[in-house]
Amino acid sequence: MKAAPQFLGPAVRPDEDELERSLRPRSLEDFVGQERVKEQLSIALEAARSRGEALDHVLLVGPPGLGKTSLAYIVREELGVGIRTVAGPALERKGDLAAILTSLEPRDVLFIDEIHRLSSAVEEVLYPALEDFRLDIIVGQGPAARTLTLDLPPFTLVGATTRTGLLTTPLRDRFGMTFRLDYYEPDELTVIVRRSAGILGVEARDDAAEEIARRARGTPRVANRILRRVRDVAEVRHQGVVTSDIATEALELLEVDECGLERTDRQLMRAIAERFGGGPVGLSTLAVALGESPDTVEDVYEPYLLQLGFLQRTPRGRIVTERGLAHLGMAAGPPARSTSLF
Ligand SMILES: Nc1ncnc2c1ncn2[C@@H]1O[C@H](COP(=O)(O)OP(=O)(O)O)[C@@H](O)[C@H]1O
Ligand SMILES: [Mg+2]
Repeated sequence: MKAAPQFLGPAVRPDEDELERSLRPRSLEDFVGQERVKEQLSIALEAARSRGEALDHVLLVGPPGLGKTSLAYIVREELGVGIRTVAGPALERKGDLAAILTSLEPRDVLFIDEIHRLSSAVEEVLYPALEDFRLDIIVGQGPAARTLTLDLPPFTLVGATTRTGLLTTPLRDRFGMTFRLDYYEPDELTVIVRRSAGILGVEARDDAAEEIARRARGTPRVANRILRRVRDVAEVRHQGVVTSDIATEALELLEVDECGLERTDRQLMRAIAERFGGGPVGLSTLAVALGESPDTVEDVYEPYLLQLGFLQRTPRGRIVTERGLAHLGMAAGPPARSTSLF
């Protein structure tokens, strides 16, 4: 068993899914796709390495499952340094962050996931730390209060967030590099599925890997999740080898459709189409109708529907497009007046 360093306290992330970790790419070479990001990052890494300096602070932006955490760990691997990982919301008090900052070794990576969810008090501690590698601590209270300044070792902050717009401007400005991760192309996801199948010891036919890739909503994590479910079906109902028929069977079981949409995606579009006359409908109203949080709707479900052109964001709210309606098998016509629930 691995003992967690005690000073990290509640800010330490619980162990992530063991399987997900085993599938994580370990080097830039293993990291499939995102060619421009890799190119820029590898130049910056090489320059920092050859100067023996800490890498500039890096902000990673993109929907869940596209490789932000993987990249943070790759940066650490490529630099050959240590890493501390925390989730923004877990850093509740200034002292939590101060304890972590003072535990860093020179050139270490500090990875803050969901960095947009840092409290403003904690964020203020971060500013001088990022800019001057300095920690200001206020000791005592009232007239007797003094500020102690501690020097920190130069370190690299890697921040991950779903949207840059969620960050305050001063925080955003302190990152030397910002990388946006895009949804992956089917051929890139096919490579990822093959790689994962190899690690999991699953024999998957080429057309099966392609089928899974096509339906993975552009997201490596989804591709890996589908692969694992497909493997279950192959083992339980068939001889173990994954063929495209078995992949299709498993995808039907999972209710993943031709475009990779899952049940909630379709419910979201259907809700707009049937309950709100096709839209526009505001985010919070839509979230209530789906029983999800607005953040989840905006960060998890909507980006891919927008990408497919099934959904549109307008100043007055969300609209289902004709393409979206066609996908649902609903004829585009005059807005429905139905008030029925789904
Ligand atoms: N570019 C990639 N190449 C190969 N596998 C990837 C890639 N990006 C993500 N993955 C896989 O998807 C999973 C989720 O990626 P992760 O880095 O946790 O995403 P995020 O932090 O953006 O939510 C990883 O465990 C890894 O197996
Ligand atoms: Mg992550």
